[in-house]
Amino acid sequence: MSADAQVQDIRVLDNPERSRFEILLAGSVAGFASYRLRDGAIVFRHTEVDPRFEGHGLGSRLAAAALDNARQRNLAVVPNCPFIAAYIAEHPKYADLVQGGHTQPRGNH
Ligand SMILES: CC(C)(COP(=O)(O)OP(=O)(O)OC[C@H]1O[C@@H](n2cnc3c(N)ncnc32)[C@H](O)[C@@H]1OP(=O)(O)O)[C@@H](O)C(=O)NCCC(=O)NCCS
Repeated sequence: MSADAQVQDIRVLDNPERSRFEILLAGSVAGFASYRLRDGAIVFRHTEVDPRFEGHGLGSRLAAAALDNARQRNLAVVPNCPFIAAYIAEHPKYADLVQGGHTQPRGNH
């Protein structure tokens, strides 16, 4: 079974009891992004994808879903996890979520 073959059955869910977002591949946890909630912010601590499924984009799906969820909940993001930090750096639409951080100069619009 490859991640690509299961592309129709990939879901990301928040699991607050374990303080992590989980990416489910055909119903099984294939990776997670752990966090702590602190004063209106979500602090991402560590992201891990099962080595069997690395390199298929699951980490990116997980990061995007977790950041979208943070935005919906009006949580600022503290990307202590280097993978989440790198994902935000590569996807500037999430940069405004980062506390105190503006990676782009503000334009006139
Ligand atoms: C890091 C990890 C979660 C990525 O998961 P994945 O499903 O392989 O991610 P994707 O397939 O979506 O790859 C996304 C990109 O992240 C990059 N990447 C891999 N490890 C990275 C890291 N530690 N920091 C930043 N970027 C990383 C990949 O090179 C890839 O870049 P590309 O799209 O330009 O090729 C996974 O490799 C893993 O579990 N690694 C071991 C634990 C770890 O080092 N976690 C990160 C620190 S908390």
